[in-house]
Amino acid sequence: MSKHQISLLLNGQPIEAMVEPNMSLLEVLRVEAGAPEVKLGCGEGVCGTCTVLLDGDPVNSCLLFAVQADGREVTTVRGLAGDVELHPLQQSFLEHAGSQCGFCTPGMLLTAKWYLDGHPTAGREELRGALAGNLCRCTGYTKILDAVEAYRDSLAEVSHVD
Ligand code: FES
Ligand code: FES
Repeated sequence: MSKHQISLLLNGQPIEAMVEPNMSLLEVLRVEAGAPEVKLGCGEGVCGTCTVLLDGDPVNSCLLFAVQADGREVTTVRGLAGDVELHPLQQSFLEHAGSQCGFCTPGMLLTAKWYLDGHPTAGREELRGALAGNLCRCTGYTKILDAVEAYRDSLAEVSHVD
């Protein structure tokens, strides 16, 4: 099978890769692009573990062909934070025990951040719905929602101070 060259911006860094036409974006990110923080769960578009942001919107990277990301911007959980400090949403997960084994956490964080960027006053049930495509086998979701709500409330406090 002939390979295709793709270029994309991964967490702000340009990368190029030679990919088979049937390789998933997930596979290319993990194997070719040095992004093992993108996790493989079901591999069938069910669990949300492999979530990344493509041009700012969440996608299941196991369902996309890598060639579909050519020329586009991909953000993984590593792109949320700086080199040293955690993103405030990650800090909130830490403080509220929103992560246990951590396998679902990158997808949870990216989806929650994306949703709150567009819906900064979302309530708990709305947030539960927004995260319905991200499955967690450990936490029972209560602590995840506590963490997301605490982050949302911290955003409101900042805007009131402004
Ligand atoms: S690994 Fe992609 S949705 Fe489960
Ligand atoms: S923390 Fe283990 S799957 Fe969610």
